[in-house]
Amino acid sequence: MDPRPAAATKVTLIEWMGVEDANTAGFVHGGTVMKLCDEAAGIASIKHSRSRVVTAAMDRMTFLTPVHVGELLTLKAAVNAVWRTSMEVGVRVEAENPRTGVVRHTNTAYVTMVAVDDGGRPMPVPALQATTPDELRRESAAQLRRSNRLAEREQILAQRGPVQ
Ligand SMILES: CC(C)(COP(=O)(O)OP(=O)(O)OC[C@H]1O[C@@H](n2cnc3c(N)ncnc32)[C@H](O)[C@@H]1OP(=O)(O)O)[C@@H](O)C(=O)NCCC(=O)NCCS
Repeated sequence: MDPRPAAATKVTLIEWMGVEDANTAGFVHGGTVMKLCDEAAGIASIKHSRSRVVTAAMDRMTFLTPVHVGELLTLKAAVNAVWRTSMEVGVRVEAENPRTGVVRHTNTAYVTMVAVDDGGRPMPVPALQATTPDELRRESAAQLRRSNRLAEREQILAQRGPVQ
């Protein structure tokens, strides 16, 4: 499999937030934003792997400021790093008040997607070509998040001791 450029995985989704996306006070549900992040991450990872993918984990999801009904939500996603079968996708979410044009950074999410075959078994993905300074920085940060995740898992398993 030939390596594929990180730039080719970029995705932009734009959604207009309606009353069905929000609570009675007009604040958009966190779950609505998470679902859209999952969708954007799914598309970016499919563009890289050209395969089916499943969401393995949503590692981090920050909510910086609330999103309101009537705002335009823009989700920008790209594959940050890839390993054997998994890919970390970074998603940046911005909300725009369409009447004033003011744009705010509202969320960041890191989603791990796994390429799977028709039987749902993990399958290898092409390497990622990260070339720009931003792409290289994102790749190295993704590697750190993965190392921390694996170390945490090992510590928890070690703490648990042998299963009876
Ligand atoms: C994700 C899934 C395919 C992994 O299957 P598995 O049998 O654990 O496979 P493996 O142990 O070989 O792991 C495959 C890859 O997934 C990664 N992975 C598995 N669980 C993970 C987790 N909790 N967090 C991050 N990565 C994970 C592994 O690190 C591995 O990556 P690598 O090949 O790049 O090193 C499987 O757990 C699954 O199907 N989960 C349900 C997914 C789902 O229904 N999502 C919601 C709807 S899309």
